[in-house]
Amino acid sequence: MTTIDDTINQWLRDAHAMEEQAEQMLESQSSRIENYPELAARIKRHLEETQSQLERLERCLERRGAATSAMKDLTAKASAMMQGLSSMMAGDEVMKGALASYAFEQFEIASYRILITAAETAGDIETARLCEEICREEEAMAADLADMIPELTRSYLTRENADLDEAKR
Ligand SMILES: [Fe+2]
Repeated sequence: MTTIDDTINQWLRDAHAMEEQAEQMLESQSSRIENYPELAARIKRHLEETQSQLERLERCLERRGAATSAMKDLTAKASAMMQGLSSMMAGDEVMKGALASYAFEQFEIASYRILITAAETAGDIETARLCEEICREEEAMAADLADMIPELTRSYLTRENADLDEAKR
């Protein structure tokens, strides 16, 4: 039997691994979307948030006495779903990247909602608060992506389809 604190520590490490994956994905995406400056700027901002999330999660794990020198090893494993999304994001097509980014944000939101409830259940209010704070950043990113997707799609279609103007007639 594990304790609720062990479970929360494992989920926090999983969240840390998820954010490391997010950092890599956002970095590789931001280098390939110079034709879409609004999206590029938002991705850059979320990359900075993600790096700060990693630090905040590390401090949280330390406070809970759960950080180990093997932190880097623990973060190596990402779920198959995250790897699938990350390979989509690494592709050279901006729409697949937008699709994967939006799905990844939803994955992050669900992860933090689980952690919020778990931390509240265990009475660790500080961890619950941190996860709420991070969750709001993910929700804001998801909402901004959702807002940008229509314009991004039109811009992609115009850029990639020389026949679009004729099709509209
Ligand atoms: Fe994140």
